[in-house]
Amino acid sequence: MLSIKENQPVEFSSELFAQFGEIVGRYPEGKQKSALLPILHLVQAEYGWLSTDAMDKVAAYLGIKPIEVYEVATFYTMYFLEPRGKYTLEVCRTGPCCLVGAERIMTHIEKKLGVKENEVTPDGLFSWRGVECLAACGYGPVLQIGPEYTFYENLTEESVDQLIETLRNKAQHEA
Ligand code: FES
Repeated sequence: MLSIKENQPVEFSSELFAQFGEIVGRYPEGKQKSALLPILHLVQAEYGWLSTDAMDKVAAYLGIKPIEVYEVATFYTMYFLEPRGKYTLEVCRTGPCCLVGAERIMTHIEKKLGVKENEVTPDGLFSWRGVECLAACGYGPVLQIGPEYTFYENLTEESVDQLIETLRNKAQHEA
């Protein structure tokens, strides 16, 4: 994943354009706008979030107005509109998970990572936030991590510590 700051212009790679083209090719002529959601996912996977410049360039690529991209990107919470860590821990904060300790888990994550909700750790590796029901209510507390949206269930402080350690090691090996 490349890391970009706010207001930093982006240049999509030829590989990324090739993937855009493959997605657009799935739709009938004139319906290229239908490729918007998967293309935004690709851009987010590449940069970690969707900057205004990236969204404008997607609009230009698809031949639609920037506002049409903003409307979609701001509607769906899985799109991030500000910089994120390499791993964003999204903890379900809806009632059933709260009854089994979701708030305790979020407090623990905040302490462990040393950043508040939606902030990024100084090493750029982590951010976290509370989200609405992840449809795994019987297995709470639960969190997910994109872009694959892997689920981690029946969380405890210890399992969260382990998860963070595993992700740190993974990032080190990938560096
Ligand atoms: S309430 Fe947490 S997954 Fe549904």
